[in-house]
Amino acid sequence: MENRAQWGTRLGFILAAVGSAVGLGNIWRFPATAYESGGGAFFIPYLIALLTAGIPLLIMEFSLGHKHRGSAPLTFTRLNKKTEWLGWWAVFVSFVISTYYAAIIAWAIMYSYFAIGQKWGADTETFLYDFLGITAEGVGPGKTGVFVPEVLIPLLIVWAVVLFVLFKGVRKGIEIANRIFIPALVVIFLIIVVRAVTLEGAGAGLTAFFTPDFSQILEPTVWVAAYGQIFFSLSIAFAIMITYSSYLDKKSDITGNAFIVGFGNSSFELLAGIGVFAALGYLAGQMGEPVQEVVAGGVGLAFVIFPLIINEFPGMNGLFGFLFFASLVLAGMSSLISIVETYVAGFSEKFNISRSKAVLLGGGLATLVSLLFATQGGLFFLDAADYFINQFGVAFIGLVEVVVVVWVLRKLGNIQEHANSVSSIKLGGWWKASLGVITPIVLGYMMFGLFKQNILGLHDTDNGNYEGYSDAFILYGGWAVAAGALIFGLLFTLKKWNPELLGQSSDTSKEDKAV
Ligand code: PFF
Repeated sequence: MENRAQWGTRLGFILAAVGSAVGLGNIWRFPATAYESGGGAFFIPYLIALLTAGIPLLIMEFSLGHKHRGSAPLTFTRLNKKTEWLGWWAVFVSFVISTYYAAIIAWAIMYSYFAIGQKWGADTETFLYDFLGITAEGVGPGKTGVFVPEVLIPLLIVWAVVLFVLFKGVRKGIEIANRIFIPALVVIFLIIVVRAVTLEGAGAGLTAFFTPDFSQILEPTVWVAAYGQIFFSLSIAFAIMITYSSYLDKKSDITGNAFIVGFGNSSFELLAGIGVFAALGYLAGQMGEPVQEVVAGGVGLAFVIFPLIINEFPGMNGLFGFLFFASLVLAGMSSLISIVETYVAGFSEKFNISRSKAVLLGGGLATLVSLLFATQGGLFFLDAADYFINQFGVAFIGLVEVVVVVWVLRKLGNIQEHANSVSSIKLGGWWKASLGVITPIVLGYMMFGLFKQNILGLHDTDNGNYEGYSDAFILYGGWAVAAGALIFGLLFTLKKWNPELLGQSSDTSKEDKAV
């Protein structure tokens, strides 16, 4: 009866999951976060976060998807009918993320072209604003102007590629794309890192990055940064990992997979930190400034600072510039594919339609919404959405997910049994304590702090926002999106599933008694 799509091989799944995890978060978020949060000392909270939240939650999500074999909403429905909304909530937040993530990839495509001959000139910041159609008179926050063709066209290309891949299915589409993108990304990135660490001044950058500031690890904010980074970076609570693991073979080693994906992602993160800081050290040396003056994260690092580095490069500027932006495109595409698959799978199961129709419906809607980011005010919307999602988005859903699964439904024992039945590493006290106690406490504390800070308006303004608009714009925009995703999620639960889908899960009935 079961004819669910499946990965061709275990490696295919691992590459796809690593492809999802390794994204812009690794390249432009991790290096600056680690640097600002204690440098070398940051590795302590970071590793603890990986081992007490990242990998345990990954195991939980892999087990849920593997056991219930459905998109996130279907998986949560099969876990307990009352938790379907949780799956949709994550899916709709993912929908929003996908719309702006696609725009960043579109910029990176254009920048890989601009890199050849350094078309961005000496003033890379002004170039970025011009490129995005933002003039001195300004397109204010919340206002959108007309379309910017240089963004619109690559954006449409990005969507065409993603939808084509998803249209081809799990094995022939997603798996093949990741089999190409991920090895290519690793090779390109290694070339960049090897070149970067041999640049003059690289040592100063690496020293700045690795020098531990142990006084910082007593700061709660550093721990919050570590847990936040791990969450975002591992694509946890985005509905992604549940969806991907639902296509696993019945006998796949869940826990082993989670360790490979978790450590694989962190290794790439470390590599990115080394590459980025070596390059920053070189730039600082050329400009005769201390490294701290050139450190940046996010859009500023990729689209303002990196072009400067490429300008200064001692030879083959065009090639290295192209490779850097190509690596952003590859890392971004494999993450985008995974996030779009969450709603393709969800829509297909909920509306009982084929994959192709779900790709047209979900992908078509996402493409339309993402056109917003190809307008003149697009950067402001993007920054607002990104800031909010980074701060709250997924970690908040993660907290709700853990509390519901562990404390409300009390499913930890069932999940442990399931994972242990197929895995070679057996889960015990470490895993239960991490999910039952440590993760809820740390995330709960983190959310409490964020709510307090933002609601009371004590929120500091030095958060890397683009100037010219208020935090209120970001916050209300962000809250509206988060609440909107939840409301949509609740509405979707009103539509009934095809009864066949609910009868199909092997052990729902047995499970339900255990609640
Ligand atoms: N793990 C991804 C990253 O580090 O960039 C997070 C992600 C973001 C996944 C956006 C998917 C996505 F569309």
